[in-house]
Amino acid sequence: MQLVISGLSKTYSGGVRALDNVSMTIPTGMFGLLGPNGAGKSTLMRTLATLQDADSGKAKLGDLDILKDKTEVRKLLGYLPQEFGVYPRTSAVTLLRHLATLKGVGTSSKERNEIVDALLARVNLFDVRNKAVSTYSGGMRQRFGIAQALLGDPRLLIVDEPTAGLDPGERNRFYNLLSEVGESVIVILSTHIVEDVKQLCSQMAIIHRGKLQFAGSPSEAEKTLAGRVWTRTMAKSELAFLKDMNILSTKLIEGRPVVRVLEDHAPSPQFDAAEPNLEDVFFSHIQ
Ligand SMILES: Nc1ncnc2c1ncn2[C@@H]1O[C@H](COP(=O)(O)OP(=O)(O)OP(=O)(O)O)[C@@H](O)[C@H]1O
Ligand SMILES: [Mg+2]
Repeated sequence: MQLVISGLSKTYSGGVRALDNVSMTIPTGMFGLLGPNGAGKSTLMRTLATLQDADSGKAKLGDLDILKDKTEVRKLLGYLPQEFGVYPRTSAVTLLRHLATLKGVGTSSKERNEIVDALLARVNLFDVRNKAVSTYSGGMRQRFGIAQALLGDPRLLIVDEPTAGLDPGERNRFYNLLSEVGESVIVILSTHIVEDVKQLCSQMAIIHRGKLQFAGSPSEAEKTLAGRVWTRTMAKSELAFLKDMNILSTKLIEGRPVVRVLEDHAPSPQFDAAEPNLEDVFFSHIQ
């Protein structure tokens, strides 16, 4: 199954064009949606999750029209929103059973409870299943969020910036879980962390100000800048010399500025040719 998006546009009442004629095809596996704050990622995800209407365009999941066959699409969908809202004082197992009932999971309460227990084990929360979700740490909440999104074996899993605030260990655990899921279903993950997309996603897109800037694999993205990225470590006092260059990024490494620029030729003999990385591609599209 694949998800085909064509010409999707959305303008909010305030006049912000959050999606501007976006088209892309998303196959089974992990798909990274990369964009800076306000790019339109959540708007796109809410639209695909049938929670919001687009002004125009189409989105098809297999044969289903996402914008029209909403009830059918919801049966195939798991969604973890960027903001989960209030965390209830209910235990994880009670809450998940309740959500499972609402989603019509299982044919009997016995089967439903088994499914819930298996999911809690899968996200590594079985031992703390009787604790209130409101007492969970950020990482545990996100894992609970994935458990609820996985109820009913979705074919399409949408997770909106799921790793914000997680420590590196939790982030890894969370991503291992997602990439396991991504072996058989479509997983769309939005983030502004370039490294996450590079590690996890076989396909990706970059959006900025509602417009699609790139779609393809991370290595294809890097190839688009081949031979055009140059780098130089410099003194802070020399930064002024960069003003006419097309700067991708200036980072401090051990306190010294390291600049990366995008130019067809070396801007000066002090610059070395650099292997383009995904962050270069990201910056080249959002500046
Ligand atoms: N309900 C709304 N009403 C009006 N404008 C909105 C609404 N939701 C989002 N926007 C605007 O639409 C644009 C895209 O927002 P969106 O939340 O889709 O971006 P995002 O890529 O998810 O950003 P972030 O990384 O900060 O979550 C922004 O300019 C935002 O201010
Ligand atoms: Mg968002």
